[in-house]
Amino acid sequence: MREDFRNKVAVVTGGASGIGEGVALLLASRGASIAILDKDSDKGERLAKTITDNGQIASFHAADLSVWKNVVKAIEEVLHTYERVDILSCNAGIQRYGTVDTTTTEMWDEVMNANLKSVFHSCKACIPHLKKTRGAIVVMSSVQGFATQKNVLAYTTSKHALIGFIRAMALDMAEYGVRVNGVAPGSVNTPMLQNAVQSDPNPEKLWKVIEQMHPLGRIAQPVDIAEIVAFLAGPGAANVTGSTLIADGGLLLPISGSPAE
Ligand SMILES: NC(=O)c1ccc[n+]([C@@H]2O[C@H](COP(=O)([O-])OP(=O)(O)OC[C@H]3O[C@@H](n4cnc5c(N)ncnc54)[C@H](O)[C@@H]3O)[C@@H](O)[C@H]2O)c1
Repeated sequence: MREDFRNKVAVVTGGASGIGEGVALLLASRGASIAILDKDSDKGERLAKTITDNGQIASFHAADLSVWKNVVKAIEEVLHTYERVDILSCNAGIQRYGTVDTTTTEMWDEVMNANLKSVFHSCKACIPHLKKTRGAIVVMSSVQGFATQKNVLAYTTSKHALIGFIRAMALDMAEYGVRVNGVAPGSVNTPMLQNAVQSDPNPEKLWKVIEQMHPLGRIAQPVDIAEIVAFLAGPGAANVTGSTLIADGGLLLPISGSPAE
């Protein structure tokens, strides 16, 4: 289904890069006016220009979303520009590595602020406007909202927490007609993944390993995940709230030890 988002306004956090960039481009191509919120002004301004150069509608609003007053200011700008909000797509996030031994309290706060508090702030600032439009929120969790790897204590904790956050907010907001859902991607080809792979002594080998660990044999592109966001934000998902849709190329499926092995 190709959703028609003409006359809809979408706030896309973390919209300057990776998955958020993919969401901004896809929703713009389907007619939405896009407000990109990100702390990276260079990339955010550049993407807004790319979209408007395509004849579509976009603006950039700089904000560190972990700081409440910055989010309030950014959403005031969005309201001033477009006068409404129909969709909030939350993608801002960071990855940090560490166990309980090696994660410092500063690192813990950094991850929780970027991955969890930024989502709370974005939702809190947008919800009065989403109630007016009976809009939709789509939050980017991860397969690490359901499972984990070694050495990602804070990241996994934040992504598990988002699944509860989605469910709790979906229940509270149902009476207002605001739907709240999430997406749990496996590996996606973005700067976050590329930087993580580059930190390995053998990045080419690791990239192949990551491809092969997904049963579909591929690393997702941002547009693959953006399509899920468009579905969850669109009319085709009118009866869906509180769900986190796993879009992981089958990554979470296998259990080893079958006789065929
Ligand atoms: N890439 C993957 O394999 C993958 C897999 C599962 C989930 N995710 C999740 O998807 C989301 C997007 O990841 P990505 O891979 O596109 O990463 P990315 O690094 O390419 O983009 C993240 C964006 O978020 C912005 N950001 C981070 N902290 C911010 C803050 N405090 N305030 C404002 N902006 C902030 C960054 O500036 C950047 O533009 C993240 O939440 C990530 O955890 C990614």
